[in-house]
Amino acid sequence: MASLPPVKVGLLGLGTVGGGTITVLRRNAKLIASRAGRTIEVTVASARDLTKARDFDTSGIRLVADPFAVVDDPEVEIVVELIGGIKPARELVLRALANGKHVVTANKALIALHGNEIFEAAQKNGKVVAFEAAVAGGIPVIKVMREALAGNDVLWLAGIINGTCNFILTAMTEAGRDFGEVLAEAQKLGYAEADPSFDIDGIDAAHKLTILAALAFGIPLQFDKVFVEGIRNITREDVAYAERLGYRIKHLGIARQREQGIELRVHPTLVKAKQPLANVNGVMNAVMIQGDAAGQVLLSGRGAGAEPTASSVVADLVDVVRALTSDTEHRVPHLAFQPDAVEAQPILPMEDVETAYYLRLNVSDRPGVLADVTRILGDRGISIEALLQLEHKEEGPGTVPIVILTHRVREKAMNDAIHHIEALAAIQGRVVRIRLEALK
Ligand code: NAP
Ligand code: HSE
Repeated sequence: MASLPPVKVGLLGLGTVGGGTITVLRRNAKLIASRAGRTIEVTVASARDLTKARDFDTSGIRLVADPFAVVDDPEVEIVVELIGGIKPARELVLRALANGKHVVTANKALIALHGNEIFEAAQKNGKVVAFEAAVAGGIPVIKVMREALAGNDVLWLAGIINGTCNFILTAMTEAGRDFGEVLAEAQKLGYAEADPSFDIDGIDAAHKLTILAALAFGIPLQFDKVFVEGIRNITREDVAYAERLGYRIKHLGIARQREQGIELRVHPTLVKAKQPLANVNGVMNAVMIQGDAAGQVLLSGRGAGAEPTASSVVADLVDVVRALTSDTEHRVPHLAFQPDAVEAQPILPMEDVETAYYLRLNVSDRPGVLADVTRILGDRGISIEALLQLEHKEEGPGTVPIVILTHRVREKAMNDAIHHIEALAAIQGRVVRIRLEALK
């Protein structure tokens, strides 16, 4: 090791994850060098505003405002992209590859939307693009899916894959706190995306699910096929009612193999309170994978934040440094499957997805209403697992909320049932629908 010169790294972005990466590389420099076989040295880094105060040590690193100066630096062997978003990240990554550099990125949006193009460019140039930090922060789920579970037919996976959403839902459940106030705290802690609506509206989780599904099923990255629903409409009442029924509401990304195709969906989901995923709280993430051979595997850890994410970035750096001495043909394929084995399979439209449901409706408190609702459900083959009529004065006199849990049914039948329920004169407002998963 002593005889090999340090590997020179160029860093794009000095924000939450960029800062964490520098800190971890410095603090654990000796350990990391002994694992990688060479010292890893960040020689140049870029940020938009070089006058900004940073709470980490940038001494010895040349700081530049132009990110293209990093990817064009002839000394740099590995570029670490921690800017986020598509522009200019996509161009920078492609240019780094064309310049013969390996790339490490935490940018799930970039991989989910442009990964197919980027991996093709990487392969053409004989370079690695590593992206462990792009999914579930500090949890090494990419490595597990791609390598440790390579012998399995993955039947389904389900995960809490957005730390910000889980942080907010946990605070609503445990402390009854206000949505906006908790979001501001998540932003302050560096968990949220630059545009936090990506977190709250489920887009970030959909980016991550796109990547996990490609690894699990050998399909191309296809973000546009993911059904996406965020947590904006979840109220404290829904959280409390779910709790009374023995459930918790979690924002899940779910990918499931079915005979007719693959379910790809991100939405708030009721899960039994004793289910392991129901007990993953705060910024913690967890991914549950059902393999035909391994059975159920549960990975959990911190899903966001400077050092947990840096842990994955640095692990990728170590992998790339190790690979610098091996021949490119025999490296681990980017999407777990060999490029010529990646093939399209149908992704099921949401109407064909099968799940159970939590329904909450406000009804006029008069005889026969419940019978009308259950008839509409029954006519569509939707059977009821539990029903709760609650005392609730907030919606006005004479109005009561009713919560119904159903057994599994196709989304299409449920859409039709909700349409007819909402048309009943006794129903006030919209029916709240949250999907429910037994995760068996
Ligand atoms: P961040 O704190 O906003 O940092 C972004 C950095 O990139 C900043 O240094 C910023 O410069 C620089 N930058 C922004 N736009 C730029 C542009 N147009 N041109 C050049 N530089 C630009 O972001 P982050 O939270 O570290 O996230 C970085 C990446 O990691 C994203 O892809 C994110 O999705 C991913 N990620 C984040 C987390 C997390 O917990 N935060 C976890 C996993 C993955 P200034 O500092 O001068 O503003
Ligand atoms: N904004 C993301 C989250 C960062 O909250 O999970 C980690 O990917």
